[in-house]
Amino acid sequence: MSSRLAGRVALISGAASGMGASHARAFVAEGAAVVIGDIADAAGAALAAELGERAAFAHLDVTRSEDWDAAVAEAVRRFGKLDVLVNNAGVLDGGPIGTYTEKQWQHVLSVNLTGPFLGLTAARDALVAARPAAVVNISSAAGMQGVAGMHAYTASKFGLRGFTKSAALELAPHGVRVNSVHPGGIVTPMIGAMTGDVTVDRDADTLKRLGAPEEVTSLVVFLASSESSYCSGAEFVVDGGMTAGSTFG
Ligand SMILES: NC(=O)c1ccc[n+]([C@@H]2O[C@H](COP(=O)([O-])OP(=O)(O)OC[C@H]3O[C@@H](n4cnc5c(N)ncnc54)[C@H](O)[C@@H]3O)[C@@H](O)[C@H]2O)c1
Repeated sequence: MSSRLAGRVALISGAASGMGASHARAFVAEGAAVVIGDIADAAGAALAAELGERAAFAHLDVTRSEDWDAAVAEAVRRFGKLDVLVNNAGVLDGGPIGTYTEKQWQHVLSVNLTGPFLGLTAARDALVAARPAAVVNISSAAGMQGVAGMHAYTASKFGLRGFTKSAALELAPHGVRVNSVHPGGIVTPMIGAMTGDVTVDRDADTLKRLGAPEEVTSLVVFLASSESSYCSGAEFVVDGGMTAGSTFG
């Protein structure tokens, strides 16, 4: 075990599976205490049990402000403070304009964009009290460039990139840094639902392969730690070169 996050207390939304679970594992391994917040109660509680004393599970639907208040309170009650918030929970769907429904649009926006707003609203005072604090908003490569057919998802991830900047500017004087992370295609249940079973071939050309959750986690650990003390309001892309531009030949 190393100690890049020794003494830190983090709340990670959507941490029961995929990248969020990878972040939770690494945070505990790096010395932090973690509250795993998710709607997936069984998987979240099992992960907390696996991670031991420095992990707890809180039922958290990121679209419900009362759930956020309870999760923040649980972090403070159990571990004494909250100095890292990772807004990771997200949902993905798509469909052509004309077919894609308002209900679908509202659901994706409420989880991917309103969720982080409600999270930071609930956590703000605890983060300021625990300063220096860090917020890591998990956007996407779809927050840097459009994806055909994924209208709400693209809009939500661009929106989260913008909210990151307004929050970073407002909270900098209070000792809270806020940054966004923009993963490309990462092998998780979310992508598995679209592509079926896939694995990461780390020997393959970066432009041609999917990423592993841990390749995003190392960036999230950096942004949660004092190693990134001069980073705020910034975009951190981890996409194997996907958004760098086009290639010929
Ligand atoms: N996998 C990718 O290729 C990829 C790429 C870019 C960005 N992202 C983003 O990374 C984040 C994590 O995605 P992932 O790939 O690990 O997906 P995932 O589906 O494996 O995990 C998402 C988690 O969020 C939880 N969740 C869903 N709705 C929720 C809600 N209302 N409240 C609380 N939790 C909720 C799910 O239960 C799940 O545990 C998401 O924000 C996603 O948009 C993923």
